[in-house]
Amino acid sequence: MDFLVKSSSVETLKTSALVLTVNEQLQLDSQGQLIDSLSGGAISAHLKAGDIQGKLGQTLLLHSLPNLSAQRVLLLGIGKDAELSDRAARKLITAVLNVFKNLSIKDAALGFTDLRIKDRDAYASARLIAECLADGLYVFDQFKSEKAPAVLIKKITFVCSKEQQKKVSAACEHGKAIASGMAFTRDLGNMPPNICHPRYLAEQAKQLAKANKKVNVEVLEEKELKALGAGALLAVAQGSDQPPRMIIMNYQGADKSQQPYVLVGKGITFDSGGISLKPGPGMDEMKYDMGGAASVLGTFKTLLKLDLPINVIGVLTCAENMPSGGATRPGDIVTTMSGLTVEILNTDAEGRLVLCDALTYVKRFNPQSVINVATLTGACIVALGSNTSGLMGNNPELVASLLSAGKQASDVAWELPLFDDYQEQLDSPFADIANIGGPKAGSITAGCFLSRFTKDYPWAHLDIAGTAWISGGKDKGATGRPVPLLSQYLLDRAQ
Ligand code: BES
Ligand code: MN
Ligand code: ZN
Repeated sequence: MDFLVKSSSVETLKTSALVLTVNEQLQLDSQGQLIDSLSGGAISAHLKAGDIQGKLGQTLLLHSLPNLSAQRVLLLGIGKDAELSDRAARKLITAVLNVFKNLSIKDAALGFTDLRIKDRDAYASARLIAECLADGLYVFDQFKSEKAPAVLIKKITFVCSKEQQKKVSAACEHGKAIASGMAFTRDLGNMPPNICHPRYLAEQAKQLAKANKKVNVEVLEEKELKALGAGALLAVAQGSDQPPRMIIMNYQGADKSQQPYVLVGKGITFDSGGISLKPGPGMDEMKYDMGGAASVLGTFKTLLKLDLPINVIGVLTCAENMPSGGATRPGDIVTTMSGLTVEILNTDAEGRLVLCDALTYVKRFNPQSVINVATLTGACIVALGSNTSGLMGNNPELVASLLSAGKQASDVAWELPLFDDYQEQLDSPFADIANIGGPKAGSITAGCFLSRFTKDYPWAHLDIAGTAWISGGKDKGATGRPVPLLSQYLLDRAQ
């Protein structure tokens, strides 16, 4: 999707379809009013006739209005509130795309001057709209013999005021870059686990780096992981025929002397639970257990498009969690890269194991901050549902900047506490620490486990178990989250 931003007047704009809004009071936006009067009240005639009530997401397509260069006008209902919520704005974009998908038009224009979303200025409103437009056209039909019908629409013009133009242009560029990162993340997530294994993710990282001089990729294989003492990552992988990989992506957008921001993603390409086997129903969805790694890759894609002047390291810590004669048993004790020993009481709590070695490894980069992203606990879905990611950390400033980035990017997170009192749930009679903390506060005790390995830098943990994909049903699929949040965090750092 290409975005164009123009401040020319709407009536002379040549386009296949011009989108204008109407509310439940049947008031047109200012661009709509102008066109209505130029066309001798052609639009108000439809409003009077009751062809549309202005309800949120309602649409009415009008052809060949007099004195207008646009071929069609798409009237879009925006409801009764003066300002749209993020949710309402998303609903509107979905409605518009549903009309566009069924028309054989290649371009359209959006009357943007008055379109405003609550707590968003022109930049932030246009950013959300552009991202939703681009992301809304995503399809994953690689494995279907019959492909989805081709989407023809290729260009959308935002028609705004002169004062808005610069900000809206930047917003469109950023929104498009974020949507392309999300699409990459969604593709990787939706890919079946017989194809998307740790070596596949390494290949994807290399491909991404190939096209850009500012990124270097290093892939650590078993021999190197053994030499580094990555006993926890290796333990998770040992029941699988797929070898583990630790993939390190280094983006240098600023002088070497500048400390990098580090993103670490959990990359379990399939989580069967291991010997602590998961129940059968829905187990296919554990192909999404590499969603953290996929979101780091997607954020890198966005980062490269935006060419931000900062240094960023991405680490994907990848393995497949399978049961076999060689698999880790409940009761096994392993030594992590940090030297801490872990009693593995449940082999299904594997995410924290692959993460802890990566979190030790990244110390060498002298990071400004480390953010790990993981589909870590089912308990996070119980606590926060499917729309809010869990957030924990050891540094209030970092946590605050992630909460605010999430809000800005309409990709929200909520903080859970890492009070000291929870830590003792991880006590083990035989090792330094157990890998599970019992039935209470499951997301927090997982965070506590990670906190044992992150004492040397500002650290935050995003639990995306509920947000990385839509579970079951006809909408099943990866969401591309939290690419918007992470991209916003990096955009804010580049300020
Ligand atoms: N990948 C899962 C977490 C998960 C489950 C994410 C369902 C999304 C949906 C993780 O590896 C896991 O199995 N966690 C266990 C931890 C438990 C054994 C302490 C869980 O949540 O049940
Ligand atoms: Mn698991
Ligand atoms: Zn898992």
